[in-house]
Amino acid sequence: MSNQQNLVIVGGCGHVGLPLGIVLASRGLSVSLLDIDAAKVEKINAGQMPFREAGAEPVLRQVLGKTLTATTDSQCLRLADVVITVVGTPVDRHLNPTVNELYQSVDGMLQYINDGTLLILRSTVSPGVTKLVYQRIKSLGRDIDLAFCPERIAEGNAMEELVKLPQIVSAFEPAALRRARELFLTIASTVIELSPLEAELAKLFTNSWRYLNFAISNQFYMLAETYGLDFYRIHDAVTREYPRMRSFARAGFAAGPCLLKDTLQLSAFSGNHFFLGHAAMLVNEGLPDFIVTQMRPLGLADKTVAILGMAFKGESDDNRDSLSYKLKKLLEVEAKEVLCTDPYVPDPRLVPLSEALSRAQIFVLGAPHAAYRDLPITADKVVIDIWNYWPGRHAESAQPPIPVAAGGAQS
Ligand SMILES: NC(=O)c1ccc[n+]([C@@H]2O[C@H](COP(=O)([O-])OP(=O)(O)OC[C@H]3O[C@@H](n4cnc5c(N)ncnc54)[C@H](O)[C@@H]3O)[C@@H](O)[C@H]2O)c1
Repeated sequence: MSNQQNLVIVGGCGHVGLPLGIVLASRGLSVSLLDIDAAKVEKINAGQMPFREAGAEPVLRQVLGKTLTATTDSQCLRLADVVITVVGTPVDRHLNPTVNELYQSVDGMLQYINDGTLLILRSTVSPGVTKLVYQRIKSLGRDIDLAFCPERIAEGNAMEELVKLPQIVSAFEPAALRRARELFLTIASTVIELSPLEAELAKLFTNSWRYLNFAISNQFYMLAETYGLDFYRIHDAVTREYPRMRSFARAGFAAGPCLLKDTLQLSAFSGNHFFLGHAAMLVNEGLPDFIVTQMRPLGLADKTVAILGMAFKGESDDNRDSLSYKLKKLLEVEAKEVLCTDPYVPDPRLVPLSEALSRAQIFVLGAPHAAYRDLPITADKVVIDIWNYWPGRHAESAQPPIPVAAGGAQS
């Protein structure tokens, strides 16, 4: 593919669109990030990332004004050879796509896009959505090449993963498939072709598998702790030098904007027969309740509790659907006071770490940020650490520190 092509990313200032745009721009493509969020557009055009993404800002500054720009003006679509949309597709409260809204959103884009353009859907969509969009384009008599190429990065690692992970591409027509393949070969060395329905399921299987995997660990954690045992002693025993258990994750909050939503999308697609998905949701979403139950004997009514880390995972500033907030709500009913802190999350309700450290008697680790690694929490304080981030500071047992093999739960 010629590097002279104009590429527009719709939703380009978000967690998926921005790193992708930066990486494509760094390969010489001319990229416009189209977004309705004027504040983010302004920030990006000033060379600043609107959220944490390792290694992204220096590359943003290199490409800004040369091969990358951000805008709120849809007119840029008129010049596009390739349009990638990462805006979420409309779904109803049962997570089925809402067809009329979907068509409105497609029609809205098509009014600016020229025939001959390659349109790539990159949001996570319900199975069948690519076909609906394809049929809509055909019914309008438009000559647009349509592809579905799901994003599989984990937030925070996008710059590394976009170029390392194989890229999945799919389309109904060979020309669209070839163009999508050529585009993604500019950033990744491996491109895998699937049919659109296979690709839609591939993305949902990936996230659901991770969500189920974390649920297994969280269920085992709750089981062990209920019997007064230290889950991490058992975890270490079964994972150490035992390759078949390598994927046994640590316990921890499994949340964020994708894992639960995508598991439920798969459930909606399966006619709500995805029993494992529903069971995983009950386990993962039940972990905050379990923690509160374990804490009750400490006498919460006269205790100040601090939650350290409000992001949905460690090192992130993203608090979308974070279970730390669910824990906060539950604790507010029972504890004297709940103080929440996070070094990265921009939330005016949070208190500085120093205040949490000086005032709380009980500490719950909500997100294992590196900044919390060596906290001066004195031995008279109670620490609830479901991640085993501070081996040896576990509230329910006084076991010695244990090395842990697998990565902890996160989205
Ligand atoms: N966040 C992840 O780690 C991740 C990973 C893989 C896939 N996904 C999927 O990618 C999609 C986007 O997720 P995200 O996390 O980047 O969301 P996000 O909210 O960070 O980004 C979406 C962006 O789209 C913009 N936007 C919304 N409507 C728009 C419109 N009509 N025109 C132009 N811009 C518009 C928003 O302002 C925002 O900047 C979702 O389908 C998600 O499931 C996300």
